[in-house]
Amino acid sequence: MITTVSTTPYGDQKPGTSGLRKKVPVFQQKNYAENFIQSIFDSLEGFKGETLVIGGDGRFYNREVIQLAIKMAAANGFGRVLVGRGGILSTPAASNVIRKYKAFGGIVLSASHNPGGPTEDFGIKYNIGNGGPAPEKITDAIFARTKAIDTYRIADVANINLDHEGTQEVEGMTVTVIDPVTDYAALMEQLFDFDAIRKMFAGGFRVVFDAMSAVTGPYAKEIIENRLGAPKGSVLNFMPLPDFGGHHPDPNLVHARALYETMMAPDAPDFGAASDGDGDRNLIIGKGIFVTPSDSLALLAANAHLAPGYAKGLAGIARSMPTSGAADRVAEKLGIGIYETPTGWKFFGNLLDEGMATICGEESAGTGSSHVREKDGLWAVLLWLNILAVRKKSVLDIVRQHWATYGRNYYSRHDYEEVDSDAANGLVTALREKLAALPGQSFGALTVATADDFAYHDPVDKSVSKNQGIRILFEGGSRVVFRLSGTGTSGATLRVYIERYEPDATRHDIETQAALADLIAVADEIAGIGTRTGRDAPSVIT
Ligand code: G1P
Ligand code: ZN
Repeated sequence: MITTVSTTPYGDQKPGTSGLRKKVPVFQQKNYAENFIQSIFDSLEGFKGETLVIGGDGRFYNREVIQLAIKMAAANGFGRVLVGRGGILSTPAASNVIRKYKAFGGIVLSASHNPGGPTEDFGIKYNIGNGGPAPEKITDAIFARTKAIDTYRIADVANINLDHEGTQEVEGMTVTVIDPVTDYAALMEQLFDFDAIRKMFAGGFRVVFDAMSAVTGPYAKEIIENRLGAPKGSVLNFMPLPDFGGHHPDPNLVHARALYETMMAPDAPDFGAASDGDGDRNLIIGKGIFVTPSDSLALLAANAHLAPGYAKGLAGIARSMPTSGAADRVAEKLGIGIYETPTGWKFFGNLLDEGMATICGEESAGTGSSHVREKDGLWAVLLWLNILAVRKKSVLDIVRQHWATYGRNYYSRHDYEEVDSDAANGLVTALREKLAALPGQSFGALTVATADDFAYHDPVDKSVSKNQGIRILFEGGSRVVFRLSGTGTSGATLRVYIERYEPDATRHDIETQAALADLIAVADEIAGIGTRTGRDAPSVIT
């Protein structure tokens, strides 16, 4: 039986950089998840009889919302749901399933790298038929609908068995439980030279991959250990846990500290990597060297042709605005297009669909390509392994050689988390008011060349996205960028991105914060970070 239930709006269901993200108790309020899911369906047209993909990163509350989403999809007229066994699908795997089975779209349940558990974070994201995050046009419509919603529809049936593969029926809709790994692993086998990587492992190359008790565990076990033959035990923390073992499943130098220590030790393995809660981010550490995500993007782009899936070369590279300009130099050398987009993977979708860009990346540990429409943590790891297998050099040598060829972009991000929202907004407003007066002003040896609030003009759909971050460029190519996070769940997070280009190879050994010290001081002087936020240091430095 299908029931129509009366409800009232909550008013706070505005999707951010990647979907709606709130604390679990917020999602547990009566009709809260139902309102959002119905608002998604109400904002879409033409899905009658079509396929919807549903899956999540396995965090606390995943199964409950998956049950709701299936029952509501049936009541709203979808013809088929494909759901990962146990409710599991990594974000890139969900993107692949949507594309492979020509689904109408997908609902992905995750709060990415944020912690999970009864009082931690949860999230719901809608992806469109190309496999990528819904564009702003749709997320705006969803938000508008959440403010007016008065009923939702749900099938009044028992819970669906998510633990056995196979097909069941719910009110005339079929629900097929699929293995979450099979399709994804097959795609990776098409893109990469598994034989070459297998040989490298057989030759004693040592890898360690930390799945951080999150969704990539089953994927990494199957691909890295079973198919590529890395020794058992190469994949750590491979059981997805609802609370990620109490950790932040965020693959950075703070939350993946143990991996970093392992890789800096004298007996370190050759290659270390990690991924986040939902499997779209990556951390790459060679023996004795952390590769920044911005450098990793540039390196992967420069070497991608060594993998079978990219042997024909790249159409172009796209990076988010705050990501360093290292990739731009590679694009220039390859004679291909480079695109600068706002923060958030959804802005890459059109460029990938139109064949304008092949590889995309963000400074926030996201790299991916046209193989899906999400960033993809394991993909980045496998492309690195493929490159290492072909070049037969260490990560350290490859990175150093890259800097010698292209110059080094010293880069760091300073996050001020859980700052008072008014203080954060005040800081940004004051900066905006200053922008016009900045060019020509000098701060010590640094002179401002240009200053603006980044606006993106999408070359494909011609949409314009304004206020995407304040960027201050100095003569000589250094810059600082300020923006407020769109994914936080409490207070505001101010992100300050600092970058300096160093062409001189004899100056590539400076410690990053020291190399950027003058810019860090100027960022504070211009924005008044300390005085406005009351913080004398960032909460996280990456
Ligand atoms: C952050 C990252 C951004 C990424 C997003 C989703 O968003 O900065 O690059 O796309 O998470 O993983 P933010 O919190 O900065 O809005
Ligand atoms: Zn993520």
